[in-house]
Amino acid sequence: MSAKLIDGIGLLYTGDPAREEIADAAMVVEDGRVVWTGPAAEAPEADEREDAAGRCVIPGFVDSHAHLVFAGDRTAEFDARMSGQPYTAGGIRTTVAATRAASDAELATHAAALLGEMRRQGTTTVEIKSGYGLSVEDERRSLEIASGLVDETTYLGAHVVPAGVDADDYVRLVAGEMLAACAPYAKWVDVFCERGAFDGDQTREILTAGIKAGLLPRVHANQLTEGPGVRIAVELGAASADHCTHLSDADVDALASSGTVATLLPGAEFSTRSPYPDARRLIDAGATVAIATDCNPGSSFTSSMPFCIALAVREMRMTPLEAIRAATYGGARALRREDVGVLRPGSRADYVTLDAPSYVHLAYRPGVPLVAAVSS
Ligand code: NIG
Ligand code: FE
Repeated sequence: MSAKLIDGIGLLYTGDPAREEIADAAMVVEDGRVVWTGPAAEAPEADEREDAAGRCVIPGFVDSHAHLVFAGDRTAEFDARMSGQPYTAGGIRTTVAATRAASDAELATHAAALLGEMRRQGTTTVEIKSGYGLSVEDERRSLEIASGLVDETTYLGAHVVPAGVDADDYVRLVAGEMLAACAPYAKWVDVFCERGAFDGDQTREILTAGIKAGLLPRVHANQLTEGPGVRIAVELGAASADHCTHLSDADVDALASSGTVATLLPGAEFSTRSPYPDARRLIDAGATVAIATDCNPGSSFTSSMPFCIALAVREMRMTPLEAIRAATYGGARALRREDVGVLRPGSRADYVTLDAPSYVHLAYRPGVPLVAAVSS
């Protein structure tokens, strides 16, 4: 395949900590990989040339937390919340009933449509969780469908205990027969560690069983209450602790001194009308922070990383630079990926051209469709 020079880039945000921003830049891509980045004045020759006309180019967003395999919606629950009802984990069971009733084709078509939405908004890497099946076969087929769509798939049989099932029996199933059926389709294992979902001991048991089966851990931690989720994530070397809304000082210290990324999901606080996580506290302590959509029908039905960036900047006091970093490089760290979320020689040529001179516009012009083109 021929080499293509993308020239006239007003600002290249590379996501590479070694050289994060290059003004008046160019980039050369070949065979789906970046082969060169630098000042346009120093650009090498290439077979083809594309003019970015002064626009900003960024890595495709890495959405490291999404629940796309489901059926039905929860409009009524959202409506009730906006009239003052609180969010509880129990709503998950509504989606479980609809998901079990849907065919494989319906679930796959719906998930693919959401992935299409994501891509049109600049996302080129997506993680998809199971968690709305909650039976051996429904979790297995959810992951089979997810693995047909993306590389990053997560077994979340431990989303909530299904209605009418004993909690201890369910934990045994999730860590046993269900895990065995799901592991061939999953890379990650996740647990919703929360009051009303799974406690610390149950979380540890399920994650440890997942690790033994060859899966890598990540945790839904400290979303609704302060709890043991973050500590367990760090203890087990999880790639990411997700939500991190209610953190003790010890949780912040644990994240800052570990390789576990704090993944913040501001769409969930927006859609549940809850206080946002304290991103400043985490960043100032030295933690690596990611932003993801948490796209799901209950707590955060958005597929838009630009929207989450705008929320992170306005509501979580992240700077625009910290937010774009969290949405690209941070997401890649949360998935332990070196080849995405950055534009540097050797990385995947997954890039987005913004209809704007800077990534700052993602927060400065909230709600405006600034994604001009997505390449991957
Ligand atoms: O990440 N917290 C648990 N799971 C989802 C919510 C799922 C739902 O309400 O359907 C979340 O926010
Ligand atoms: Fe989630």
